[in-house]
Amino acid sequence: MPIKISKHIQTKAPSLFPDADQASVYTAQQIAELIHQKQREGNQVTLGLATGNTPKKVYQELIRLHKNEGLSFQNVITFNLDEYYPIGPDNDQSYTYFMRHNLFDHIDIQQENIYIPQTNSTPQEVAKYCQAYEDKIAEYGGLDLQLLGIGRNGHIGFNEPGSSFASTTRLVNLHPLTREDAIAQFGTIDKVPHQAISIGIHTIMQAKRILLLALGERKSEIMNKALSGEISVDIPASILQTMSQVEYILDQEAAVLIQEEDRV
Ligand code: F6R
Repeated sequence: MPIKISKHIQTKAPSLFPDADQASVYTAQQIAELIHQKQREGNQVTLGLATGNTPKKVYQELIRLHKNEGLSFQNVITFNLDEYYPIGPDNDQSYTYFMRHNLFDHIDIQQENIYIPQTNSTPQEVAKYCQAYEDKIAEYGGLDLQLLGIGRNGHIGFNEPGSSFASTTRLVNLHPLTREDAIAQFGTIDKVPHQAISIGIHTIMQAKRILLLALGERKSEIMNKALSGEISVDIPASILQTMSQVEYILDQEAAVLIQEEDRV
């Protein structure tokens, strides 16, 4: 049963950009400004990070800002949204590998400040591991900023359709569409894991600021539903409509179906 909440309680108009490059640079700037602000205050900053195609250019821009403009990550703690289960951290399809390759190996973040769900726990131990991941986020005072992509089925993290809005970090079963979209990464469908560890929707909603980035025409249909459709566990991202700390950042292609009234 969809939860009925009147639409657009909190949704701000999405930030629209002519192309993926400009949307990604803007996103990276938001992250960099927060890091600078926390540095000025003498504080650490806790970032929730995503993997996949969407954030790649954001990470490229953060690397550029580090290399050319002196952006330091010494005060940054990161928690990744999710990881396939099971998968070894050295497997080049793992998100641990992805993060090293696309960001961490190129910046000055302290290794002990990087948290990515590790999926070497046995099925018996995994719930305890997930609770410890939650506890660690809480120990740092929660996430200051969460960067999100969106799946074509509306998932955020690997919170697939049907996930409870009250969910926290746990072992999840991957949706057929999510597994299909991962074929490009794994080669064939039989190599794509059936499960993952994902932080929950509740965990995401607790973040002080949330940036949801959607790029390309293949995200246009789901962005229209997530932004303007009914709030329902069938479209996990739809719950973000109720939250004032969310900013949607879209390139023109992802925004083609966004209705005029949602643009202003
Ligand atoms: C990745 C994640 C997923 C992706 C989503 C979009 O850590 O949590 O929710 O953000 O599947 O993936 P791309 O960006 O590859 O289209």
